[in-house]
Amino acid sequence: MPENESTTVQAGLENLLHETRAFPPSPEFAAQANAQASLYETAAADRVEFWASQARDLLTWRTPFTETLDWSGAPVARWFADGTLNAAHNAVDRHVENGLGDRVALHFEGEGGDTRTVTYAELQAEVSRAANAIAALGVGKGDRVVIYLPMLVESVVAMLACARLGAPHSVVFGGFSADALRSRIADAEASLVITADGGFRRGAASALKPAVDEALKGEGTDSVGHVLVVRRTGQDVDWTEGRDVWWHEVVAAADPVHEPEWVDAEHPLFILYTSGTTGKPKGILHTTGGYLTQASFTHRSVFDLKPETDVYWCTADIGWITGHSYVVYGPLVNGATQVIYEGTPDSPHRGRWWEIVEKYKVSILYTAPTAIRTCMKWGEDIPAGYDLSSLRVLGSVGEPINPEAWMWYRRVIGGDKAPIVDTWWQTETGAMMISPLPGVTATKPGSAQVALPGIAADVVDDEAHPVPDGGGGYLVLSEPWPSMLRGIWGDLQRFKDTYWSRFPGIYFAGDGAKKDEDGDIWLLGRVDDVMNVSGHRLSTTEIESALVSHEVVAEAAVVGAADETTGQAVVAFVILRGEHAAKAETPEGAAEISEVLRAHVAKEIGPIAKPRRVLVVPELPKTRSGKIMRRLLRDVAENRTVGDATTLADSSVMDLISAGLSSGT
Ligand code: WT7
Repeated sequence: MPENESTTVQAGLENLLHETRAFPPSPEFAAQANAQASLYETAAADRVEFWASQARDLLTWRTPFTETLDWSGAPVARWFADGTLNAAHNAVDRHVENGLGDRVALHFEGEGGDTRTVTYAELQAEVSRAANAIAALGVGKGDRVVIYLPMLVESVVAMLACARLGAPHSVVFGGFSADALRSRIADAEASLVITADGGFRRGAASALKPAVDEALKGEGTDSVGHVLVVRRTGQDVDWTEGRDVWWHEVVAAADPVHEPEWVDAEHPLFILYTSGTTGKPKGILHTTGGYLTQASFTHRSVFDLKPETDVYWCTADIGWITGHSYVVYGPLVNGATQVIYEGTPDSPHRGRWWEIVEKYKVSILYTAPTAIRTCMKWGEDIPAGYDLSSLRVLGSVGEPINPEAWMWYRRVIGGDKAPIVDTWWQTETGAMMISPLPGVTATKPGSAQVALPGIAADVVDDEAHPVPDGGGGYLVLSEPWPSMLRGIWGDLQRFKDTYWSRFPGIYFAGDGAKKDEDGDIWLLGRVDDVMNVSGHRLSTTEIESALVSHEVVAEAAVVGAADETTGQAVVAFVILRGEHAAKAETPEGAAEISEVLRAHVAKEIGPIAKPRRVLVVPELPKTRSGKIMRRLLRDVAENRTVGDATTLADSSVMDLISAGLSSGT
């Protein structure tokens, strides 16, 4: 392993080697579980046929497929390619056709306590109206639509309306800045942007529309003909006549009947941008048939979903892949009843989530380790004040979950009985890949454990050889899977370089992992220049570019430093230009510049990318070839003794940095 990668993996190995607890499923749970151990055998006997039978059982096809997998164009897979279907029809209409129109699809809970209940029949009418309204704005099959919305019923409706038209959506998280939005609109050449006046965040109206207005003044956005605006907060908005249209005017007036666009299984369903190791986000492309098959299969088996009785709640925002696969497509294709919540866990009080669980009798909860650790910090007397006995399955996603948080989740939230499923996957994989199956797997605190049926995952060394049990290396996926990305929008070469060049022919996930003595997989975090802050992916290079775009900065290096709550925190080291360097020599001057730069990053990328700390330094540690040694900076950021610095071009640099920092700058 290159040396800058080995430290994180090593630290993770040492922490986890001592974890030996296991929790076998209870006989009662196992007896009623959707998943049975035989699923692994069936899938292993004929992986491709296993997926074909899931695709037939779980989806409704307009034209049945006769081909399952075509891997001749590797690494671009084609699944079920001669079948046709429509995603919105599968998620909504067919349930109504099957007599389930009165079932609740969405229990919407606004941050301030306003609520809205939407049945499948109502959802069908609303999605159809929205599809007609969007079509009337000139959007047709293949056109891209950017969605920049808070968590609202309209957000789910907007995604499904696009899917209904065969118009790929690209959801941009509402916390991203105008510039981040602009670059995504430009890259996707979107013809429509759907947004809102604003959303409610910690008790206040937080505007969204101004960011759209600003983005559309920028370069590369001429493709956008209209902006469709949901009214949520009622705050004032600037209005561009002829371009801007109110959602409540055009959608309400539209026909509630709409014939879905029947598309090929490989028709693009969405593009979702995610951070990579360079400054430019990657537009991850997902298509229809394979994606829906794996999203619905995993949602049903990993959460043991019983659509007639369960109330499911995934706390993710639709701006992330989790919101796509496990708020919109997986649950709705399975006909689930779910809760969606607009706000934050601490507004108006720290028991908000548990109040929601009690109120709707949530039985399946899917959230991120960072949220669990935050609740741990707040104290267990808060959840203890609510009736959480409805919970029967708990999920975790987004980053490795430390055994302590896992045990707390199980005991305090799950009443010591609900199985925990730690699900490993990525924006690129589209759906879960590695996870225990509740009722089958004896779970281990901190481990995602086993590849799901039909999935081939392994841990390999530098030469792509599988490591023995007890060994560590890189996580790879060695066989194509139905919901795999079909490429990076507009950049086939980058797709090949990023995922398929390190180990020819197999998918490189970018994560370090180890196998324990039972062969179970433990994820250890990223091995590339991608950070994971609160389960959100951030690129060191992207933040470095934002920093150097500020006039006072000459050079910048960013690292992810271990953080108790957020997993990692962004720590930036900057060298200032000429006269500004002198200003930073006093502690006040340095603090002021640091504040300015933190705010600058928040403005350039979004508040989630804001560095925890910005440290002004006289030099950065570089190798003779000019590569910044982030490993050494991570040592500084985590207050550790600085490791081996002998490969530096100038080995005194680390002394200079440490001396400067301890003297207060
Ligand atoms: C990266 C993918 C999958 C939806 C949310 C994040 C990390 C994700 C786990 C887990 C350990 C995990 C990996 C992965 N990750 N789930 N259960 N255990 N690590 O999606 O933004 O595409 O990030 O998140 O590092 O590569 P994403």
